[in-house]
Amino acid sequence: MAMTLDVNGKPMTVNAAPDTPLLWVLRDELGLTGSKFGCGVGQCGACTVLADGQPIRSCSMPIEGLGGMKITTIESLGGTHPLQEAWVKHDVPQCGYCQSGQLMSAAALLAANPKPTDADIDAAMDGNICRCGTYQRIRAAIKDAAG
Ligand code: FES
Repeated sequence: MAMTLDVNGKPMTVNAAPDTPLLWVLRDELGLTGSKFGCGVGQCGACTVLADGQPIRSCSMPIEGLGGMKITTIESLGGTHPLQEAWVKHDVPQCGYCQSGQLMSAAALLAANPKPTDADIDAAMDGNICRCGTYQRIRAAIKDAAG
């Protein structure tokens, strides 16, 4: 089935069954491979992208519900987003696999709450798991990016 999705501000026509998870479409059809497959069941956050500014688990989000929503992926941050610069400054990543999902959750947080407290950060980032345990550096980088 052909369907148009708004991805990073551009209309993208995709050919996939309505129940295809967004992550598959992003990676396999659109070549946007920054979003990662971790658990595949909505538990780890590695696949996090934004839909109308809200973090969603793209591995378990069928495309049929996303028509008309603005999908934003890690590629939209462009490598120069203040969060990405703070990530580098604080040497946040270790293996790096979860970090695009971490960054998208952090971007959604700062867009909604430009001066988050530690508790706000912990609440917003709670669903993004990092097996390397970079949580303290993530929190520091978010605070730094918030200024
Ligand atoms: Fe989607 Fe883990 S890969 S939540």
